[in-house]
Amino acid sequence: MKILIINGPNLNLLGSREPEIYGKDTLDDIKVWIDSKPELQKIDLEWFQSNHEGKIIDKLHYCVGKKNAIIINPGALTHYSISIRDAISSIKIPTIEVHLSNIDEREEFRKNSVIKDVCIHQISGKGKQGYFIALKLLIEKFK
Ligand code: DQA
Repeated sequence: MKILIINGPNLNLLGSREPEIYGKDTLDDIKVWIDSKPELQKIDLEWFQSNHEGKIIDKLHYCVGKKNAIIINPGALTHYSISIRDAISSIKIPTIEVHLSNIDEREEFRKNSVIKDVCIHQISGKGKQGYFIALKLLIEKFK
């Protein structure tokens, strides 16, 4: 099973960026932690991070015919990028939305996700476990 995990703007700063909200792990720490999970050994996993909306859209398009599923944390783009929403609904690849923090318990503007209803699940507020939960849901789905 081939899965792409996309992380959007400012998630390259994990570890130093508001650790009280997003945790102390860097994105590389999260990758190493995910790679150590025996349950996930059969997954062919690719990670991609970009601070640029268009690059994320290009990467979503690139998945057609190459990936079975996508996990995406679009960062702040979650709340306003109709282009990312349209890309997800165009490519028709099962996609799970993940947020480290609980977007429903923060500022009002974070409560709205414009991608939620084009994704098969939304996982929010579970920290790095959210990526693990998403991968396990995809393993179940493709069993
Ligand atoms: C985030 C939540 C977003 O509101 C924020 O802009 C982020 C990270 C999260 O993982 O909790 O950049 O997606």
